[in-house]
Amino acid sequence: MKILVTGGAGFIGSNFIRLVLSKHPDHEVVNLDKLTYAGNLDNLRDIEANPRYSFVHADICDADAVAAAMDGIDAIVNFAAESHVDRSIGGPADFIQTDVFGTYVLLEAARSHNVGRYVQISTDEVYGSIREGSFSEVDRLQPSSPYSASKAGGDMQVMAYHTTFGVPAIITRSSNNFGPYQYPEKIIPLFITNALENKKLPLYGDGANVRDWIYVTDNCEAIDLVLHQGKIGEIYNIGGGNERDNLSITKLILGALDKDEEKIQRVPDRPGHDFRYSIDCSKVKELGWAPARSFEDSLRETVDWYVDNCWWWEKIKSGKFARYYQKQYEKRNSS
Ligand code: NAD
Ligand code: TYD
Repeated sequence: MKILVTGGAGFIGSNFIRLVLSKHPDHEVVNLDKLTYAGNLDNLRDIEANPRYSFVHADICDADAVAAAMDGIDAIVNFAAESHVDRSIGGPADFIQTDVFGTYVLLEAARSHNVGRYVQISTDEVYGSIREGSFSEVDRLQPSSPYSASKAGGDMQVMAYHTTFGVPAIITRSSNNFGPYQYPEKIIPLFITNALENKKLPLYGDGANVRDWIYVTDNCEAIDLVLHQGKIGEIYNIGGGNERDNLSITKLILGALDKDEEKIQRVPDRPGHDFRYSIDCSKVKELGWAPARSFEDSLRETVDWYVDNCWWWEKIKSGKFARYYQKQYEKRNSS
């Protein structure tokens, strides 16, 4: 199988490419990525020389560039997105462009090249917040942020292209991922690296908001299963079953690094902050998937990875995008 992976230079996409190349010796991967601030070829250093891997520097919104990459492609797996809620509050335009329009461009490519499978990587955030119970795949979408609304818009296009044009599409909606190569703007890598730099850990509001955490390779295994054995036209929730509030996560990180809880800095809450995400994952479990990793062990391993790979994140945190973002962030937190 020759797979076009879009957004493969990001966090989950790079972990997915690594998994596919090692698990399927007969598979080829073409990675098409725009290399935004979040795209990083360092994430793929160990596999870039693999003869079954190639890289195309392009934007998924560029129909000609996408068409040029489609030669011999059997399946598309779309990870490409603007992915951070806080950035979407600061500037929604790129989110709508990539997450909605870019998805449309890929669906057109899937349609005109008659690909065998199109897998859209989506998020549990499209369902919105839930105080009690868990969302299943048939629940209505109630996104709260420009990010989740853009992802929901992408999902709607995917289902419409399946229904109207017969594009063989599947959607996965996972909960919050963590692990190696996650851009240090999301809570876990931000807090680990801040603690290592002896900076404060900016906890929004009272820290009581709850996320369900999944180790990235568990999600990648589920995506791989869905790609090969999922039912066309279906949506699959993928969660780790590890619901934790943000204060607990923060304390676990500080504990793993033997750092003081005085490092926690309460900052104003995120506007429109979803209180809790929770998904029912029985459908993907029926396909034969289950998370392989325990949360506490994999969080500790993740902390160790950032400790051992300062070369990877120090470069990012001293870069110009990071400096710009830090300024925005400080402005907001001081207001
Ligand atoms: P990421 O921000 O680390 O990576 C996104 C990648 O997409 C980057 O390599 C970036 O360069 C690329 N990209 C962005 N715009 C592009 C464009 N127009 N054309 C081509 N490439 C482009 O994101 P991630 O955390 O790896 O998330 C991957 C996908 O999984 C996203 O679709 C996201 O919505 C979804 N998701 C993420 C999480 C999570 O916890 N990280 C949870 C659920 C779903
Ligand atoms: P994040 O990692 O941005 O993922 P998402 O918003 O997509 O779930 O945030 C996870 C949780 O951590 C969320 O409730 C917001 C909170 N958070 C903080 O408290 N401080 C921070 O600096 C960040 C980035 C997030």
